[in-house]
Amino acid sequence: MNQIKLFDPVVSDEEELSIKKIFKSGFWASGAGIGKVSDFEQKFRKYVDSKDCIGVNSGTAALQLALSVLDIKNKEVILPSLSFVSTAHAIVYNGGKPIFAEVDPQTLCIDPFDVEKKITKNTKAILPVHFAGIPANLTKLEHIKKEFDLTLVEDAAHACGADYGDKKIGSHGDMVCFSFHPVKNLAMPSGGLISINRSDHRNLRKIFSSRRWCGITHRKNVFYDIKEIGWNFYMNEFSAAIGLVQLKKLDLLNNKRKKIAKRYHDEISLEQKMPYDKNYSYHFYWILLKNREQFRKKMKNIGIETGIHYQPIHKFSMYAKHSRLPITENVGKSIVTLPTHPNLSDSDVDLIIHSVNKFS
Ligand SMILES: Cc1ncc(COP(=O)(O)O)c(C=O)c1O
Repeated sequence: MNQIKLFDPVVSDEEELSIKKIFKSGFWASGAGIGKVSDFEQKFRKYVDSKDCIGVNSGTAALQLALSVLDIKNKEVILPSLSFVSTAHAIVYNGGKPIFAEVDPQTLCIDPFDVEKKITKNTKAILPVHFAGIPANLTKLEHIKKEFDLTLVEDAAHACGADYGDKKIGSHGDMVCFSFHPVKNLAMPSGGLISINRSDHRNLRKIFSSRRWCGITHRKNVFYDIKEIGWNFYMNEFSAAIGLVQLKKLDLLNNKRKKIAKRYHDEISLEQKMPYDKNYSYHFYWILLKNREQFRKKMKNIGIETGIHYQPIHKFSMYAKHSRLPITENVGKSIVTLPTHPNLSDSDVDLIIHSVNKFS
């Protein structure tokens, strides 16, 4: 039986050749972020059109590092609960307090009106997630940011290559965090990046460069200083080499995702489904269903893998406090994610649409 995977990185001989070259060179990694890492940072910066980019070894590390410059200890950061748990962990790693806001039921991105309601004198930042590749309402969030003097850090793990108006995601918020986990639109073995748009970007580069490599600073030959704690978050050369090849074809691959999403949107006969817009990057495609478990079992039986993204974070024991988020909780019970990766053939897409309409 033909198995259709939920996620599947699209790779060719070019990625293979690029890592063979790194393998043979013996230069596999450097905390200094030179070589392919620096090349990737520059090319990605050009692609999204931001002031600077800092490569790291995961999306989680990007979020943790970005928030580390905001001094959020005992302060509140507002985020959606519908996300991978890293979005909340990044706040906790930095001693901050995650405050969960509702999602907009049309986009499943954070609802800016609920964000406004949750702002207190202790709020330091807003952390929206561009869920499934739909950009959050940045116009309204930037307005709130200015009004309440907050910082906007974006979780763009799903939105590599997505557009907001005539600009790429990565060119708006103070710091925009990407993930290049193998399931993502731009795949590496593991990787992440912070795209920086703040006017103090030169200073931020210095801080991030040191903190992503154990706090190492002021290097001269083999000597250096340590002024503060840092982590082992730097990107390796294999990841960067694959990323450089993937970046060249990102728009092409995203266009394939959009074509698949357009077909789902037009041909799936469900009311509650992800909207279509050519600006979205369609990391996956979501539908909302009442009979989720039965549906997923039937899909699995005919070889189609589906997913659940995500269990709301505020329902996990570690984060369970008093928040009541009825829209998010309802989505958490009914969301099913469908494959949109560019390895899907037309007949795979036909089968998925036919099966969703039959089993839902
Ligand atoms: C929304 C979101 N944020 C953050 C992350 C963390 O990225 P990574 O797995 O690269 O650490 C992910 C990836 O799974 C994600 O989906």
